[in-house]
Amino acid sequence: MTLHQSGKKYDRSHRAERMALATNGRFGDALAIRGRIGLGAMPLSTSGRPSDGQSIATLHAAFDAGVRHVDTADAYCLTGLDTGHNELLVAMAIKSWHGPGEEVVVATKGGHVRDGDGGWHTDGRPEHVIQAARASRERLQVDAIPLYYLHRPDPRVPFVESVGALVTLLEQDVVRAVGISNVTVEQAESAAQIVRVSAVQNSFSPYDLTSRAVVEWCERRDVTFVAWAPLGGSTRAGRLGDDPTTFAFAQVARDHRASTAQVVLAWLLALSPITGAIPGARRPSSIVDSVASESLELSVAELTRLAAGGTDG
Ligand SMILES: NC(=O)c1ccc[n+]([C@@H]2O[C@H](COP(=O)([O-])OP(=O)(O)OC[C@H]3O[C@@H](n4cnc5c(N)ncnc54)[C@H](OP(=O)(O)O)[C@@H]3O)[C@@H](O)[C@H]2O)c1
Repeated sequence: MTLHQSGKKYDRSHRAERMALATNGRFGDALAIRGRIGLGAMPLSTSGRPSDGQSIATLHAAFDAGVRHVDTADAYCLTGLDTGHNELLVAMAIKSWHGPGEEVVVATKGGHVRDGDGGWHTDGRPEHVIQAARASRERLQVDAIPLYYLHRPDPRVPFVESVGALVTLLEQDVVRAVGISNVTVEQAESAAQIVRVSAVQNSFSPYDLTSRAVVEWCERRDVTFVAWAPLGGSTRAGRLGDDPTTFAFAQVARDHRASTAQVVLAWLLALSPITGAIPGARRPSSIVDSVASESLELSVAELTRLAAGGTDG
């Protein structure tokens, strides 16, 4: 029985018991990702996106600060007319960076598409996922995509059929590793029956704890768990600490002379050795601040206090 099933609160006070369930996996092990904070590149290409110059500066600032994991998707764009905008930016930033670009692990996704008006739709048909991955590989200018996710299950396509496309992509060396995103434990389990799942990417933040059973599944299976919208998304991130869900995080931040965002990220990293996060950023200062959370140690007492303050929002 997992802690989730037993109804116990998912907090630091049960860490010893949770760790007993865990194997020896660490974030990014199978993917050779350095560091547990990556850059979520989505806001560089979606609504309110900055100039290309600022976007490249943000990516370069991330790399200079030690970030070696960038999260993108073909659908990070304004409308279906500029599909791949974000992947092209990422490729351009890696190419123009003065440092070792080959160290950067780029993760991209397919199976979620934008129409001509910017609406989002799923397309998990195997033929679409395979064609989308080939197009992403082209835009990223790599021999094989380091990590390729099925972006979202498509309710119109049996999940295992979409996952079957990931098997094909591995067999054809279009991708080096595969992940799944926005999945339940049941979906993760069914995917793991047919393919080596290297990473699961779900929403996780103080505002959204709904994937805690998925984190536990990843821990048991040595699968990397990547938290998207770790700061609650763009609209909330600027007001962290101003609401009851994040009051306690702001208090702990004051004690550490850290930012509230850093404490949120450090809390996320403390959940399990297999968790990491991909905070989004339009400004260099945001990602530079976020990366510093990797060296922020929170005490057991602080983590217990934060767990008590979190909600299942
Ligand atoms: N798999 C999926 O279905 C899925 C869905 C959504 C997102 N994602 C991925 O997850 C990534 C993160 O999600 P998100 O961008 O929606 O939300 P988020 O990471 O929770 O919030 C992003 C916002 O946080 C701000 N921020 C970042 N670091 C900060 C710091 N240290 N202090 C203060 N503010 C900070 C940024 O501000 P500035 O913009 O001003 O720099 C940015 O607008 C996305 O970029 C994308 O790669 C995946």
